[in-house]
Amino acid sequence: MSTFIPGLAGVVAAETKLSKPNGRQGQLTIAGYAVEELALNATFEEATYLLWHGRRPDATELGAFCAQLASQRALPAIALGVLQAAAQDKLGAMDALRMAAGTLNLAAGENLAMVLVARFPTIVAAYWRLRQGQTPVAPDPELGHAANYLYMLTGERPSEAKARGLEIYLNTVIDHGLNASTFTARTIISTDSDMVSAIVGAVGALKGPKHGGAPGPALETVFAIGKPDNAEPHLREKLERGERLMGFGHRVYKVRDPRAVVLSQAAERLFEQDGDMSLYVLAKCVEETAVRLLAEYKPGRDLQTNVEFYTALLLHGVGLDTDLFTPTFAIGRVPGWIAHCYEQQRTGRLIRPTARYVGETNRQWL
Ligand code: ACO
Repeated sequence: MSTFIPGLAGVVAAETKLSKPNGRQGQLTIAGYAVEELALNATFEEATYLLWHGRRPDATELGAFCAQLASQRALPAIALGVLQAAAQDKLGAMDALRMAAGTLNLAAGENLAMVLVARFPTIVAAYWRLRQGQTPVAPDPELGHAANYLYMLTGERPSEAKARGLEIYLNTVIDHGLNASTFTARTIISTDSDMVSAIVGAVGALKGPKHGGAPGPALETVFAIGKPDNAEPHLREKLERGERLMGFGHRVYKVRDPRAVVLSQAAERLFEQDGDMSLYVLAKCVEETAVRLLAEYKPGRDLQTNVEFYTALLLHGVGLDTDLFTPTFAIGRVPGWIAHCYEQQRTGRLIRPTARYVGETNRQWL
């Protein structure tokens, strides 16, 4: 009972039907489907429905679901006010998302799960534009979730290739076992708190570079390397300084993260269509060098490419600035967080582990 497991590694703290990462075989199953199968074939709306209902929607159900989601995209004045204030202070996009998302439980009587999924892209896009002194673009109900997000960022309807590239990314990250942000959401909802509080807590957990904050720095490393010949000296220097290489290593995966496989293929397709493969080729070289050097500097730790490395490349190809990478991860993950909240609520069980006390005893208040 009193065994201390640092970081709760390997501790089974929930039962779930949502997703199953297999860290030794490099496989990820989401609601019964291999991640490759789901990410490459579903729309984001279908993947969300699947997580919330445990099965694919039929055509009528999907139509109604998409329409309901699209109808909830516009932001209330209070959320816009928060974003305007945050933009004045030039806060980070994740901080702005956390603050504006925190206002969404004021939408009394609405379906909060739908509201959260529908409005995350609107918050991020509106904030992005406000921070650059531009006016937010109103959502377009005729566009799907992914295409509409790009439209609200740029004011232009995106190409089919970019919208689908983004959608594949959102599908790929929609759920991933009991990761730190999902565990946070489940812990909060387990106290019988509300869904918005759980999701806001999850956003806070996702922000950190050991979780969702890695893709920006991963891409910056690729840019700083600049050309293949620089990869080894640059990465070696980082490792000599004791730095971590962003986009590598994972608590669960000891082989290449299956999501990295899906995303690297999607990035390759996107760059091929754009007709410039130079960044993709450089990234492949950085990846190969990083994995080789990690094996040299950290033998036996099995540090492989994780989801974040190719997230960075794909989202860059889609046209997103690095500051948007982590908020876009949140846009993809929010249906998963919500589905876990539903599961946790059904158990009715409070999450409350224990700590081993290692402090002093019998002190006197003199
Ligand atoms: N670069 C260099 N060394 C690393 C890296 C890395 N990317 N990852 C782990 N290590 C080393 C650690 O320094 C440690 O070395 P030590 O045994 O000599 O002390 C050893 O490998 C084990 O590291 P832990 O932090 O104990 O491993 P853990 O499983 O807790 O960490 C984590 C997983 C946090 C993702 C880690 O690999 C990391 O920091 N990676 C870089 C950041 C990153 O890419 N984050 C995104 C993760 S994916 C996601 O959450 C969506």
